[in-house]
Amino acid sequence: MKILVTGSGGFIGFHLSKYLLDKNHTVFGYDNMNSYYDVKLKRDRIKILSKSKKKFIFTKGNLEDFKKLDNVVKKNKIKIIVHLAAQAGVRHSVQNPRDYFNSNIKGFFNILETSKINKIEHLLFASTSSVYGDGKNFPLKETENTDHPLSFYAATKKSNEVMAYAYSHIYNLPATGLRFFTVYGPYGRPDMALFKFIKNMMMKRPIELYNKGNHIRDFTYVDDVVVSISKLINKPPVKKVPYDVFNIAGNEPRHLKEFLRIIEKYLNIKPKVKLLKMQIGDVHKTDANVNKLINKIKFKPKIKAEEGISKFIDWYKNQFNQESKKNENSC
Ligand SMILES: NC(=O)c1ccc[n+]([C@@H]2O[C@H](COP(=O)([O-])OP(=O)(O)OC[C@H]3O[C@@H](n4cnc5c(N)ncnc54)[C@H](O)[C@@H]3O)[C@@H](O)[C@H]2O)c1
Repeated sequence: MKILVTGSGGFIGFHLSKYLLDKNHTVFGYDNMNSYYDVKLKRDRIKILSKSKKKFIFTKGNLEDFKKLDNVVKKNKIKIIVHLAAQAGVRHSVQNPRDYFNSNIKGFFNILETSKINKIEHLLFASTSSVYGDGKNFPLKETENTDHPLSFYAATKKSNEVMAYAYSHIYNLPATGLRFFTVYGPYGRPDMALFKFIKNMMMKRPIELYNKGNHIRDFTYVDDVVVSISKLINKPPVKKVPYDVFNIAGNEPRHLKEFLRIIEKYLNIKPKVKLLKMQIGDVHKTDANVNKLINKIKFKPKIKAEEGISKFIDWYKNQFNQESKKNENSC
């Protein structure tokens, strides 16, 4: 199958592309490789995908550039799009809402337009647990109210869901929204807690802990996310309005401080902690009901925090050692 994966230079896009290539699909990657975080990490991911003997064809481009995006879809007769490119991150959206408007609203509109024009058979797109705001009916079902986002990031993702619904209704576009819950794993995002904790602990720097680590997150290991997406690809919605949305979560909510204790145990380093208050835009708790996903794809995310964290640490130590060696050699 020919599949367009936007955001293939990003964390989840990289893992998904790799998985699909291993399953012998042809993957067209699309990413602007922006500098929201270390571009080297994005380049490393693309290098790995490009080395794959299988077919990975990469285009560096902006979602906002409709001509370029549409050309990739048209020229390659793509029928499946997994749209993961976006300006991510809750905290960055407080200071930089325009980045979110450009990538997540304008960019998403272009994804919908190219999907409509090229008669895409299934558009899957990233949403987020943040659309639930401070929802209280745990575990959160997809039917929970999502009208009160606490951040502009969440507002753009909620907008994506309703924009996609309208395209499904009007143009009969099969579309599936993916509400991801705190995804982590090797090649993860440097702006996320796990990465920052481990980096700072290994460098013997203090870590910043918001809300005394008392907020709860339904952490999800990236391999579980990738398997879920790949199974959903073959199951476009077939309802009258061919639109659907799924929680994709590890189903194992933990306090952040508990997560930190597991890191401490595996790293065998006691962190110096700088306590900070809860950040604007952050929600207190995420905890997903994943029954809808399990019923649809007969797969339950299964990787526990202990296993996922130890895999992340192995990867990080390897990266860290390589960087240190390079620095020694250049001294
Ligand atoms: N990682 C998580 O925990 C998580 C949780 C909920 C939702 N999500 C969503 O999942 C998707 C993937 O997240 P991720 O963690 O891999 O993030 P990421 O930042 O690593 O990947 C996103 C990629 O999109 C690219 N991009 C951003 N704006 C672009 C634009 N205008 N044009 C072209 N490319 C652009 C970036 O360069 C980046 O490589 C995002 O939509 C994100 O909002 C992620």
